[in-house]
Amino acid sequence: MMTKDLSPMDKAKFVAARRAVDFIESGMTIGLGTGSTAAWMVRCLGERMREEGLRIRGVPTSVRTARLAREAGIEVITLDEARWLDLTIDGTDEFDAGFSLIKGGGGALLHEKIVATASDRMIVIADVSKQVETLGAFPLPVEVIPFGWQTTRALIEETLVSMDVLGRETALRLDGDKPFVTDEGNRIIDLHLKRIGNPRRLSLVLNQIPGVVENGLFIDICDAVVTGYGDGRVEVRDIAEGLVEEGRIEIPEGDNLFSDLSD
Ligand code: A5P
Repeated sequence: MMTKDLSPMDKAKFVAARRAVDFIESGMTIGLGTGSTAAWMVRCLGERMREEGLRIRGVPTSVRTARLAREAGIEVITLDEARWLDLTIDGTDEFDAGFSLIKGGGGALLHEKIVATASDRMIVIADVSKQVETLGAFPLPVEVIPFGWQTTRALIEETLVSMDVLGRETALRLDGDKPFVTDEGNRIIDLHLKRIGNPRRLSLVLNQIPGVVENGLFIDICDAVVTGYGDGRVEVRDIAEGLVEEGRIEIPEGDNLFSDLSD
């Protein structure tokens, strides 16, 4: 793919990812997120490592990202080898003004949440379309174990009746005509809530249900958001300091970063 073929949304994802890898310093252990925006970040990090000789170890949040990281020349280690990480950079499906997130559109929410929680800092990279006033337009993924999943789903639906949400439809995520299977061998139920009035309470209540492993609400985990725009503008917002930078990133013409796009 050539640079000129990138859609404005891809450009927005690229510039957010490119800006975020500047926060990485040699010697760090980095949590590598999952999804198309995180895939840009992995490629940009690989390029910085080649050009500047950075020493980085990466903990991937999915099988997909592990493959991409190895291709990019990043040393891949497990979370158990790393124990704690300096920084995680990951995409998101939605973020609000308080940096609460909905994640898991790509199905990797469990590993993503464990890795982000084990990190000193989490930076989210996103095109501006992910920014919302209230979470919930994006269906909330909930990872459930296969045993008795229909009972777990019924319990989730019953729980939603007393929650501050607008919609209560639930759907088993499919991969073709079979259930989608996560990297841990679990299933995902997507909750079509439309609007989540109290994400913190919903997250706590969902995780009390036996059979639920984790949900896609990330609360008090994200420290900074790098937002990209289709015209190359990029903004860095910090949870403590607010808007800390507005800039622009030129998208390199004919760069080899764009030669092997698969994610
Ligand atoms: C993966 O499970 C998700 O949490 C992703 O971070 C999210 O879906 C963002 O993906 P894109 O960057 O492809 O939009």
